[in-house]
Amino acid sequence: MPHLFDPLAIGPVHAPNRIAIAPMCQYSSNDGCASDWHLQHIPMMAMSGAGLVILEATGVERAGRITHGCLGLYSDDNERALRRALEAAKAVALPGTLFGVQLAHAGRKASSQIPWKGGSWLRPDEDPWRTSAPVAEPFAEGWPVPVALDDAGVQRLIDSFAEAAGRAARIGFDVIELHMAHGYLMHEFLSPLVNRRSDKWGELSRFPLEVGRAVAAAIPKTMAWGARITGSDWIEGGITPVDAARFAGELRRAGAHFVDVSSGSVSPQARVQIGPGYQVPFAAEVKRANPDLVVSAVGLIVDAQQADGIVSSGQADQIAIGRGALDDPRWGWRAAEKLGVEITRPPQYARTAPKLWPGAALIRPA
Ligand SMILES: Cc1cc2nc3c(=O)[nH]c(=O)nc-3n(C[C@H](O)[C@H](O)[C@H](O)COP(=O)(O)O)c2cc1C
Repeated sequence: MPHLFDPLAIGPVHAPNRIAIAPMCQYSSNDGCASDWHLQHIPMMAMSGAGLVILEATGVERAGRITHGCLGLYSDDNERALRRALEAAKAVALPGTLFGVQLAHAGRKASSQIPWKGGSWLRPDEDPWRTSAPVAEPFAEGWPVPVALDDAGVQRLIDSFAEAAGRAARIGFDVIELHMAHGYLMHEFLSPLVNRRSDKWGELSRFPLEVGRAVAAAIPKTMAWGARITGSDWIEGGITPVDAARFAGELRRAGAHFVDVSSGSVSPQARVQIGPGYQVPFAAEVKRANPDLVVSAVGLIVDAQQADGIVSSGQADQIAIGRGALDDPRWGWRAAEKLGVEITRPPQYARTAPKLWPGAALIRPA
């Protein structure tokens, strides 16, 4: 009996199944505003069969974007543009689909080129901006040296996260995911490899927890919030799965409803061991230590049986699909077919259901 299509309560909201679309930068925004690309992309993900669609890393301030093409929620124009894209997505979404946005600040990895223009730091003729971080040390050799945030700067960013969360609530999102991973600002505070401050913000989890509390206070109780966290820095002396489980507990006590366990990217020195479901053991460790917290697993989960196995065995409550959903934007429909589960399709496309398409099973490749 598969469990991938069981409903899931995430704090106050209910996802119709255990599949999420992982946040994926599209690098297609104009000064943080969603574009026509998003009007196509987000509705496409909304019709994937996933119960929760989490939108890409979205800068809480202009300088918090990774690239000039990143989405933002720091202006009224941003809010208007994203509202339009979300409304388009809701118009085609399968019943009950939840929408989340990943609020982020890129810290010392901001001011970067979009990947297909190099992916490195912006050069002087590419309109770079000053980056900020817990310490005035660059991400890697050659990268710009960030400004070390002072107390007022940290406080201002906590307020920016809360303000962006308020905008997300007004637009109509159900879920907020705080980006605390991948070497961006909150991860820089969390990792002992980066945060060597001697003031109160040198307490590794202090800033991310304050952000969480401020965001929780800025959104209605009908919304869920949580974070993408690091299961491992993949470097000696960095964050370990045990640290991740402990931090997830701190988030839970701060009121978070879920965590999504990723890893890596705090330093180019990380030696990530990639393979099918390579981050699932981290999610499982976090789940074991925090049975009351909704835990999502991500990373090379590509196959329906594999996804169902992770959920059915209790290693995680939910799985997130990234690249697999870009490749097959009906990933959820395919998974349902493979697991013998019926899901609702939009009435306009209802005749694509195998049972209403006699002979379909015969002409489909095995
Ligand atoms: C195009 C692309 C953009 C991404 N952007 C983000 C992002 O905005 N925030 C984030 O936390 N992870 C981001 N990721 C990582 C994915 O969310 C996911 O964790 C990763 O791709 C592993 O899952 P997968 O093997 O199913 O793709 C991105 C990945 C891809 C492929």
